[in-house]
Amino acid sequence: MRSSTIYSSVISCLAAVTAAQTAPVWETLPPTPQLPGNPAGTVTEINGVKIWHTEFGTPVDGQVPVLMLHGGFGNSDYYGDVVKALMANHHVIVMDTRGHGRSTMDSTPFTYELYAADAAALLETLGHAKAAWVGWSDMAIGMFAALLDSDNSTLVDRAFAFGGGHNPQSTNATFSSSATYAAFIGRATEDPRGDLKAFAAAVETLESTQPNWTEADFARIKLGDKVTIADGQYEEAVALAEPALLHSWIAGSQRVTLTNVSHFAPLQDPDQFAAKVEEFLSA
Ligand SMILES: *[C@@H]1O[C@H](CO)[C@@H](O)[C@H](O)[C@H]1NC(C)=O
Ligand SMILES: *[C@@H]1O[C@H](CO)[C@@H](O)[C@H](O)[C@H]1NC(C)=O
Ligand SMILES: *[C@@H]1O[C@H](CO)[C@@H](O)[C@H](O)[C@H]1NC(C)=O
Ligand SMILES: *[C@@H]1O[C@H](CO)[C@@H](O)[C@H](O)[C@H]1NC(C)=O
Repeated sequence: MRSSTIYSSVISCLAAVTAAQTAPVWETLPPTPQLPGNPAGTVTEINGVKIWHTEFGTPVDGQVPVLMLHGGFGNSDYYGDVVKALMANHHVIVMDTRGHGRSTMDSTPFTYELYAADAAALLETLGHAKAAWVGWSDMAIGMFAALLDSDNSTLVDRAFAFGGGHNPQSTNATFSSSATYAAFIGRATEDPRGDLKAFAAAVETLESTQPNWTEADFARIKLGDKVTIADGQYEEAVALAEPALLHSWIAGSQRVTLTNVSHFAPLQDPDQFAAKVEEFLSA
């Protein structure tokens, strides 16, 4: 390598470090936290695959548990610091979506209805008639699928949807060129678990073809103010008009925007995320 090339590499490294230091938090992907105590968790056979899940806090009389559902290409660890804040006062359940993290997949194509059925079946297996569901991104959509299913919806006491949408067009077309996307996908593909190629193809097919809902579908959701449509002030993954649209389509729903965060709020400001979930739980 010629010294001028080395010199320019050093300069560009320094520039990258400086940019990382000065970038506002909503343009960064902070390190993935661990779940409190980094638990071994439990694996349960559900709908033909092995679903990894674990629980925090203690059941409280008269309170439903909180079911935390992570987004596409993520896993429950992404909620680590949010769980840490919530578990003091709540019984919290996390599960890795099929194919993600420590859960397995089979050859069945992913659908949001299947994600919903897995989550509902886990609750049933654990003996819970209902839970407060917190869904992020793909699992905000999976949670909508649960709400639109006559059986699965009976297990949803209330729903907090962060960064969901009603069709593939509600994804922001510039998301894939953002710094957070590059960091997130890089991190996801470094995760050595499972058959990465089959997994990535299954998630990409799902996200590019589903869901396909309209206003008439969302009009069937009757939980009123027990539904919160949440987003980040600097949301980069979902079109900016989407949260207000979903809010207008779900009668009586609440609308919350987290400040100074993007689609990756649970990593960027877990305490604010937990505080908004607390408000939702007490509504
Ligand atoms: C969830 O919905 C699916 C599809 O309708 C159904 O097969 C399954 O039994 C439901 N599970 C629960 C626990 O409601
Ligand atoms: C989406 O749903 C509408 C009906 O609401 C249907 O006409 C259309 O073909 C569907 N599109 C896809 C891609 O499935
Ligand atoms: C997509 O995100 C960018 C910045 O993250 C924003 O400027 C743009 O308005 C968004 N596009 C839509 C359609 O919401
Ligand atoms: C948001 O970030 C800006 C710039 O870093 C800062 O000045 C402001 O106080 C922050 N606002 C909140 C509500 O944290």
